[in-house]
Parts: sequence; structure tokens; C-alpha cells
Amino acid sequence: MLDIKELYVSYGRITALQGVSMHVPRSSIVCIIGNNGAGKSTLLNAISGMVKPKSGEITFEGRPLPAHPHQIVKAGIVQVPEGRQVFPILSVDENLTMGGYVLSYREIRERKARVYELFPRLKERAGQAAGTLSGGEQQMLAIGRALMSSPKVILFDEPSLGLAPMVVSQVFELIAKIKESGVTVVLVEQNARKALSVADTAYVLENGKVVLEGRASELLENPMVEAAYLGGRKSA
Ligand SMILES: Nc1ncnc2c1ncn2[C@@H]1O[C@H](COP(=O)(O)OP(=O)(O)OP(=O)(O)O)[C@@H](O)[C@H]1O
Ligand SMILES: [Mg+2]
Repeated sequence: MLDIKELYVSYGRITALQGVSMHVPRSSIVCIIGNNGAGKSTLLNAISGMVKPKSGEITFEGRPLPAHPHQIVKAGIVQVPEGRQVFPILSVDENLTMGGYVLSYREIRERKARVYELFPRLKERAGQAAGTLSGGEQQMLAIGRALMSSPKVILFDEPSLGLAPMVVSQVFELIAKIKESGVTVVLVEQNARKALSVADTAYVLENGKVVLEGRASELLENPMVEAAYLGGRKSA
């Protein structure tokens, strides 16, 4: 569905991605793990068109990815950014409307009904300013807003960051549900154990390079992954 070949991205003199290649099969969850500064967000931002690669190739459904972020959203790829970034002074409902900006008015209404079905808690708070929602609720809203555009691919950047353990579990359940509905997921997470248990395949990024890739279940058992990203010996 999504194919990345030899991607290089630089910010001035800093090279954030150094020849990353990745394959994202349809209706799967691909997770990317790696330490701070490894280039995970940069990779997602390159896919969503927010940063321009210096070289390399991204193809989506066999065609080159369009150049502009809004065309990429229209093509079916949407990103839930790091730190959620809802519009704080807009209401929950208005935030969802923004997520559907590429759609017609009628489609917006239909999609919204679907999102409210998925998140009854957001429906109860439709008129509330998004900035006053709890962290977990803001995460739901950010995910709901991404779902508004009927995406084929959702890119998640650290969806569990700053959330209480119970809410983290809910977010991962939701990601699994999104996959079951046929949407392809690319998931960046520091919570490597949770991410690997929900993912189908996984990539480990270090200093802008893929150092390991494989089935998520295999990476979970990999001693190097365990030592570096799962906090040593497995608990339980
Ligand atoms: N806009 C920018 N300008 C300059 N350097 C940047 C910019 N964005 C990222 N970088 C640098 O590129 C490298 C990769 O950053 P990136 O945000 O992709 O890492 P990350 O893996 O998402 O890290 P984290 O886990 O901390 O979110 C880092 O060294 C970072 O300082
Ligand atoms: Mg990041």
C-alpha cells in the first residue's frame, strides 16, 4: 500500500533520515520504534508531506505520493500528530469539522455521526472547548478528527504519550479496532512493548537508519530489542 525507498531527509546540516526503506502492507499495523531523535516523527512527516525529502521515493498504491499535504490527505493518508494538537479554543464539534475539510457538508455530517458513535464521550462534550478536555479525551478527539477524512492510512505519532495506563490501553484497543475496520496504520511509539503487541510488522530506527525489521512478534522476543527498548528482561 505504502512503499518507501532510500529516503533521506535533512534539516540544514542535520541528516535526520539516512536511506530509510519501509514497506507498509494494506490493512496492517506497522510500528516504528526508536529512541528520542531517531527520526521517527521525521519519517511520518515525510509521508504526510510536512517535510520534503532530499532524496528517495514514496509510493502510495503504486503511484508517487502527491507533493502537497492537502493532496496527501485527499489521497487517503492522514496523520495524528505528536502532542495531539487539537484547536484549543474551538469546540469538540468544530475540531471534527476541521478534520473533514476536504469533504462535502453532507459527508461531514455522516462522518461526524460515525465518530460520535465510536466515542460517545466526545458526543457528550460536543460543545466543550477542546483545550478543556482531559489528556485522554484530547487524544480521542485527535483520533476522531483524523478519522473524519475517511483515511486509508492513519499515521500515529506517540499516541500514548502522557496518558494514564488505563487510557493507554484504550488507545491501543482503538488502534486495533481501526485496523479491523480495514484502515492501514503506521504507529510510532516509545511504549515499544504495547506497540509491538498490537503491530504486525515493526522497524527499529537508530540515528535515521533502519537497524532491524521483522514481524512484531519476533522483535518482541529479540534480545537486542528487549535490552534496548523493552527495559531488559521481560516482566511476567
Ligand atoms: N524542524 C527541525 N529542524 C531541525 N532539526 C530537526 C527538526 N525536526 C527534527 N530535527 C532533528 O532531526 C532528528 C530527528 O528528529 P525526530 O523528531 O524525527 O525524532 P523522533 O524519533 O521523533 O524523536 P522523539 O522520540 O524525541 O519524538 C533530531 O536530531 C532532531 O533534533
Ligand atoms: Mg517524535
